[in-house]
Amino acid sequence: MKNIVILISGRGSNMQALVNARISGARIAAVISNRPDAYGLDWAKAQGIHTVTVDHTQYANRAEFDAALADAIDQFRPDLLILAGFMRILGAEFTQRYAGRLFNIHPSLLPAFPGLHTHQRAIDAGCKVAGCTVHFVTAELDHGPIVSQAVVPILNDDTAQSLAQRVLAAEHRIYPEAVSDFVQGHLRVEGMRVINTRLSDHSSGRP
Ligand code: GAR
Repeated sequence: MKNIVILISGRGSNMQALVNARISGARIAAVISNRPDAYGLDWAKAQGIHTVTVDHTQYANRAEFDAALADAIDQFRPDLLILAGFMRILGAEFTQRYAGRLFNIHPSLLPAFPGLHTHQRAIDAGCKVAGCTVHFVTAELDHGPIVSQAVVPILNDDTAQSLAQRVLAAEHRIYPEAVSDFVQGHLRVEGMRVINTRLSDHSSGRP
C-alpha cells in the first residue's frame, strides 16, 4: 500500500477527486494545508482523513516554512506527495527532498502559461484550446517531466471563469488517473519525458 500526502491551500476540489477515486493500492495518509481556513481541510476531516495545518504566516522565511512543512509531511512517510491547488512556491531543497515522488497539477498546457491567471492569458493570446497538466515537480516553477495532459476547447464566448470550469472538470479526470499510474508503477522518467508503460503503443505500425 502506497502512502499519499496531499497539500492544499483552498477549495480542494482536486483533493476531493483524488479521495473519491479510491485509487487501488493507495491510501490518503494526510491532507496538509498552509492555510488554516482552507475549505478542503473541513471536507477531508469529515471523511475521517488526518489533517494538518502548517500556517506559512507563522514562519520568518520560506526556508523555515519549507522545513516545518517537510517535518509535518515526513511523519506520514509518503511514497507520493501531491500538490493540489497548493499556492506556495517551494524551495529547491524541498523539491529535491521529494524528487521523483512529487506531483503538481497546473491549469494550462505546459510549457505554455506557467504561473497565475492561465485561463485569461490563454483567451487573450487567442488560443483555440486550453487544458491542464500533471507533472513531476522540479525546482523550476510549473516545470518538470509531464505525466499527462488534457485538452479542452476555448469557445467564442468563454470567460476566464467558464474556461476554468471546463478545465477543472478535466483536472478531476486526469489527476486520479496519473496518480493511479504512479502507484501501479507504470511511470518511468527519462529526462523531461515520462514513459507510461500502461499506454505503450502497440498499434503505431512502426517496424
Ligand atoms: C486548480 O485549478 C489547480 O490546477 C490550480 O488551482 C486550482 C485549485 O483548485 N493550481 C495552480 O494554479 C497551481 N499553479 P482546487 O483547490 O479546487 O483543487
